[in-house]
Amino acid sequence: MESRLLVRDCRELLRGFPDGCADAVITDPPYGIGAYKGDSKKVALLFPEVLPEIHRVLRPGGALAFFGRWPTFYRWAIAAEEAGFRQREEVIRNLRSPAAGDLGSLGRIHETLYIGSSSQPKEITFNVDDLRVPYHDRYRDGKGFTRLRGGRKGEKMTRFVPNPLGARPPSIIRSTRVDKPRYHDGQKPLADCEWLVKLLANEGDLVLDPFCGAGTIPLACANLGRSFIGMDIEQHWVDVSEKRLADAARQRNLKLPLEAD
Ligand SMILES: C[S@@+](CC[C@H](N)C(=O)[O-])C[C@H]1O[C@@H](n2cnc3c(N)ncnc32)[C@H](O)[C@@H]1O
Repeated sequence: MESRLLVRDCRELLRGFPDGCADAVITDPPYGIGAYKGDSKKVALLFPEVLPEIHRVLRPGGALAFFGRWPTFYRWAIAAEEAGFRQREEVIRNLRSPAAGDLGSLGRIHETLYIGSSSQPKEITFNVDDLRVPYHDRYRDGKGFTRLRGGRKGEKMTRFVPNPLGARPPSIIRSTRVDKPRYHDGQKPLADCEWLVKLLANEGDLVLDPFCGAGTIPLACANLGRSFIGMDIEQHWVDVSEKRLADAARQRNLKLPLEAD
């Protein structure tokens, strides 16, 4: 399917999609906390209502990832299980600094990501090799290979053969609260969206984002050669997304001749 952005309530739009047409759904539904219009409890119930339809349009083994934060996140994770998803990972986005103010609460510096599969958790595309990170220094012995620490007295130490591509990506990712320019109150960092797209979709795969806002997830897909369908109920956000995608495409085209020099 060709990449595109659609304006309408995703509950109506998704009903028009065939079973199993998408390889992944990566999305950032309204949390129902703070910035959104209307009754916050009602807003937080929207995503659970859409989850069965998301499950239907995903292929078997298709990945679901969503951004969230306590307390909604845990309700959504349960709703996802009830809709037929199987959780594969929980990822913490370390935002490093709390929002401004002192509201008598802890300084919240994290948000959460859910990763699950429409069928068995092991069946999803899971490109860890594309996201490997340098091994921690404590595993290095200076001879180009690493050893596991520990081992009880008298037990042989196991030699650990490191993966030449690096260590597994950790389940806590360094993130940030805002990306600039900031178009949308709920905008997510492009780097986090690209991390998810690389992990959960192969080049050419189709990724759906039913709540695309300013289009950061579609933009991550475009940057990485994945197809996407982004949806938002507000025309304004689809216009902003279209402009961001067009600007990024222009930048990519400008860069190509320079890289070829
Ligand atoms: C948290 S924001 C997404 C932000 C986005 N990840 C970004 O980086 O800009 C959620 C979006 O869902 C949209 N939305 C709310 N209800 C919707 C519905 N029923 N169908 C489609 N979009 C909806 C809102 O207009 C809002 O832009």
